[in-house]
Amino acid sequence: MSSALMSTYSRLPVAFTHGEGVWLWDTEGRRYLDALAGIAVSGLGHAHPKLVKAISDQAGRVIHTSNVYQVPLQEKLAERLTQLTGLQEVFFCNSGSEANEGAIKIARRYGWKKGNAHPHIITMNNAWHGRTLATLAATSSPKAREGFAPLPTGFIAVDYNDIDQIVKAGDDEPRVTAVLLEVLQGEGGIREADFDFLQKVRKLCDERGWLLMIDEVQSGIGRTGQWFGFQWANIRPDVVTLAKGLGSGVPIGAVLAGGPAAGVMTPGSHGTTFGGNPLVCAASLATIEAMEEEDLLANATRVGDYLKAAFQRALDNTEGVVAVRGRGLMLGIELDRPCGVLVSRALEAGLLINVTRENVVRMLPPLIFKEADADALVAGLTPLIQSFLAGAKS
Ligand SMILES: Cc1ncc(COP(=O)(O)O)c(C=O)c1O
Repeated sequence: MSSALMSTYSRLPVAFTHGEGVWLWDTEGRRYLDALAGIAVSGLGHAHPKLVKAISDQAGRVIHTSNVYQVPLQEKLAERLTQLTGLQEVFFCNSGSEANEGAIKIARRYGWKKGNAHPHIITMNNAWHGRTLATLAATSSPKAREGFAPLPTGFIAVDYNDIDQIVKAGDDEPRVTAVLLEVLQGEGGIREADFDFLQKVRKLCDERGWLLMIDEVQSGIGRTGQWFGFQWANIRPDVVTLAKGLGSGVPIGAVLAGGPAAGVMTPGSHGTTFGGNPLVCAASLATIEAMEEEDLLANATRVGDYLKAAFQRALDNTEGVVAVRGRGLMLGIELDRPCGVLVSRALEAGLLINVTRENVVRMLPPLIFKEADADALVAGLTPLIQSFLAGAKS
């Protein structure tokens, strides 16, 4: 069907024609419960009336101008995001990789302004920050990196949740200027940073004059039940990156800077053609408004806790289940063996899920997910996991 496409994806044999709420329909008219939301993107679900109206109204006015002009909707969105994060300024781009690319550039320029000609950034093993060359250098996946050497240098990977390794990396390399991490690693298998670890990293960054840069591309915009995952640990980073849920499906990313990171970029030091155009900003503003009106942060916490507990109960004593973990509506079920086949089995059963790190079933449902949807997901997925683990053909 899609033979002219570069084969960067092994696509599942299904195409969707439309959606409503937590449901998607395929070309054969079959209905699927969406527990993936386009990988943490469609927080409002599908065809949310407020979002549809905002996008259509804006498309009828003006879609794109240029960043050489004032863009009032961009100003308005930046204002909202700085209020929500407590940071001071925003650069809009088009994806998570680009947002992290921006963060890396901020860290380098921050170092350079202090006379450091070769700034280094401490990153985490098992991290995922994107597929551009610099973000790939910050991403530890050997598979994603294969064949793309030489990658940019200046990154030091340490173990997640290990403050001593960060201290040591800083002692060994005086040119460190920043630490970059996810508070909840998504692609890395739904692994959460300890709050104590995050607070220690914050303190260390303050003591050493490093920027603390947090990648909230997957965990941000309400996914964990707070606007941003770092809020659970009561810390404030200097740089935050966003994308995915920020625009509910229109391509928008953002890098926010505060404290010592604010003012590092100046006219000419960074730019983009599309980033933050009126259309994507209208979608993003409507997303934030709808999330507030519908109290979706509280919903993500309540339904997320409910879903996690339901899976823990259903899979209790099931041999081969290593852990059910995560926060809000960012959940994973780790099995003791590779389980990629569960994605197509779930698809056949009308459920959209994903498997990451080969053995972690990942669920990132729309933030409008309700208890009844959670019940349907648990009822549909549990027998598939159990029969898979029992080695039975489903
Ligand atoms: C934490 C994190 N950062 C960055 C990215 C890259 O985002 P994008 O695919 O929009 O470039 C992802 C994508 O999965 C991600 O999960």
